[in-house]
Amino acid sequence: MINESDIKPLLSEEEIQNGIKKLANVLNERYKNQEVYLICVLKGSVMFFTDLAKLLKMPVKMEFIRLSSYGSGTTSSGKVNAVDIKLPDLNDKNVLIIEDIIDTGHTAKFLMDFLNHNFKFKDIKFCALLDKKIKREANIEADYYCFEVDDKYLVGYGLDIDGHYRNLPYIGYIEV
Ligand code: IMP
Ligand code: MG
Repeated sequence: MINESDIKPLLSEEEIQNGIKKLANVLNERYKNQEVYLICVLKGSVMFFTDLAKLLKMPVKMEFIRLSSYGSGTTSSGKVNAVDIKLPDLNDKNVLIIEDIIDTGHTAKFLMDFLNHNFKFKDIKFCALLDKKIKREANIEADYYCFEVDDKYLVGYGLDIDGHYRNLPYIGYIEV
């Protein structure tokens, strides 16, 4: 396990919360009184999901799915594993996918393909807290994101290294 002193600060708790507030304002304006299904992609987006949800004013329902792509290493395997992807009938619904980070984009692409294959949405949008644009391999972009980040391995606020440090209130990076 790495030490917390090896984690270099990147985004403070305050910066993260301000970024989420800005996104919530945009979403509140866009959806007004329309019902939206928020889909939390576990485990990484748990913090972002709950903090964002608390600021949303339209009626929301919450769903949780679990995907995994990273093994225990720090580079994307490119292979996405649907650990648990059970969802209610989302035909004709507004859906917001809530993800921690888009890196290579394989996870996001896999999920969007799966969902579009199974449902005819009223509307579906992809929200990511972080966008590592420089690492993109799959042809997919976030509809909304809070911060663009460099090619560094990030931890904290949901993001882990070997399962650790998801509980940090800030985001930092480690040199690998
Ligand atoms: P992608 O499929 O390469 O876009 O990666 C998506 C998933 O990998 C994200 O949802 C994260 O859970 C994880 N991930 C990507 N970059 C990082 C990072 O820098 N730190 C921790 N997890 C990451
Ligand atoms: Mg994730």
